[in-house]
Amino acid sequence: MTKGRILSGMRPTGRLHLGNYKGALENWVRLQDDYECFFAVVDWHALTTGYENTSEIKDNIREMVLDWLAAGLDPERSVIFVQSHIKEHAELHLLLSMVTPLGWLERVPTYKEQLGQLSGRDIATYGFLGYPVLQTADILAYRADTVPVGEDQLPHLELAREIIRRFNFLYGSKLPEPQPALTRAAVLPGTDNRKMSKSYGNYLGMSADAQEIRQKVHSMVTDPARIHKTDPGHPDICAVYAFHQVFSGDRAEEIGASCRAGAIGCGECKKNLTARLDEAVGPIAERRAALAARPGLVDEVIAAGDARARRVAAETLEIVRAAMRI
Ligand code: TRP
Ligand code: SF4
Repeated sequence: MTKGRILSGMRPTGRLHLGNYKGALENWVRLQDDYECFFAVVDWHALTTGYENTSEIKDNIREMVLDWLAAGLDPERSVIFVQSHIKEHAELHLLLSMVTPLGWLERVPTYKEQLGQLSGRDIATYGFLGYPVLQTADILAYRADTVPVGEDQLPHLELAREIIRRFNFLYGSKLPEPQPALTRAAVLPGTDNRKMSKSYGNYLGMSADAQEIRQKVHSMVTDPARIHKTDPGHPDICAVYAFHQVFSGDRAEEIGASCRAGAIGCGECKKNLTARLDEAVGPIAERRAALAARPGLVDEVIAAGDARARRVAAETLEIVRAAMRI
């Protein structure tokens, strides 16, 4: 039986935080056992909202790939590459743009939303509107049948299916329509209980050292109504408890019960969490340090991945051009 093929991508945001790891990367690592995997650093996607400041993109690519490797992405099994190095994405994006009705793009829910939200930047651009077409090209270039994504990406994937269906209808091709594989994302809030995000400064690095872990856990917001250890607490509004639910396994329930009963103090609860995070994150940080000490490693991984990606994408473009008779 042949394995299914996965393509997924992440924008190069530099070092990843623990939310990125739990929400996506950890899942990618598991998927390597069952799928032929292509993982793209989508630097062109970073330009769709951040074209004005490009000074950090190259560094961010390298830092992110180091985190991918530290997390356990295996460059022998998986193809790890950079979108902008494979020019076939650009050609396919252009060809798909010809068959994509404008109305489909304007209707993508994230489009209008982000236009409003990112109003500080001028993203009323052609590139930003075409973002989901570029994403479709990323997927189709590898004829991927499965795309692991978070819930927020489902409209983009539905659009990708529609574009590919329309292409197949117009040109009689049989290119695969990709299925989403929803990531069972463990929800990890930031230290202030908002969404974990680099721009809020409320994140924990996925390869944080012991000192960063201790500091960040110390700063986490707890149930503000708890002043004395014996005050009954509400773990469900507490960031520390949200982390326990992800990192403390079966013990989380017990911790919640002790909190509600006023039997455990927040200091002790945080100390326990620090220990759990040291266990979970420590090995990743160690692997990262070892990998970072090997000069040229990231460049070699990317060059080898680019070469493998390019072969498959070139094959796809042959099929696409033949179907379109150009
Ligand atoms: N749009 C995705 C995001 O912002 C990133 C992405 C680009 C992607 N191309 C992709 C994800 C292809 C999956 C498949 O998170
Ligand atoms: Fe949060 Fe733990 Fe304090 Fe309860 S005891 S409020 S779960 S830190």
